[in-house]
Amino acid sequence: MPLRLGVMASGAGSNFEALVDSFRHGSLCGEVALLVVNNRDCGAQRRAERLGIDWELHDHRLQPNREQLDQALVQAFRTASVDLVVMAGWMRVVTPILIGAFPNRLINIHPSLLPSFRGLDAVGQALAAGVTLAGCTAHLVSEEVDAGRILVQAAVPVLSGDDHASLSRRIQVQEHRILPLAVALAAQG
Ligand code: GAR
Repeated sequence: MPLRLGVMASGAGSNFEALVDSFRHGSLCGEVALLVVNNRDCGAQRRAERLGIDWELHDHRLQPNREQLDQALVQAFRTASVDLVVMAGWMRVVTPILIGAFPNRLINIHPSLLPSFRGLDAVGQALAAGVTLAGCTAHLVSEEVDAGRILVQAAVPVLSGDDHASLSRRIQVQEHRILPLAVALAAQG
C-alpha cells in the first residue's frame, strides 16, 4: 500500500527533503502528504514550496499549551489522511495527544547513539564527553523524551579536529540514510 507520510520540522528541513527524495527516487512507496512547521519561513517550509509538498504552519507561540498544539497537529494529519508521522528536527516536546493518535507510528530522528546524549544539543554533548564514536538514532516516540523503541541507528567516527559543524554534517549524512529505513520498518509494523 502506498504510504501517506506526515512530517514535522522546525528548522532546515534536510531530513524532510531526504524523505521526499526517498519517495520520489528511492525505496519508499507513497508520498509525503503534509509537512507541518512551527517556525514561519524555516528552511523546511521553503523546501516544501520548492518540492511542491503541502505544508501548514502551526506556530506553538499562538497556542496556550503543548496539548492544544498537538491537538491541532492531529487534526491536520487526520485531514490529510496520514498513516505515519516523522518528527524530522521537531524541536518541541510532544504530548500523549499526538503519541496516542499514532501508536507505533510516530518516529523521531535524534543526532546521537541513544540512550547516550538525550535532549538538547546532542552533538555538543558528544563533543564535550570526548566520545570517539557518535551517530544518530531513528526511534518510536514515547512519553519519555528520546527514549522510545529504537528502529535504526548509524555510527560515525569523531575525528580529531572535528567541531560542532563538521560532526553534525557527518551525522546528518547518516540521518538521511536511516530515516527512510525506519519509516519502512514502522510502516510494516
Ligand atoms: C537533525 O540533525 C535531527 O537529528 C535533529 O535536528 C536536526 C534537524 O535537521 N533533531 C533533534 O535534535 C531532536 N532532538 P534538519 O532540519 O536539516 O532535518
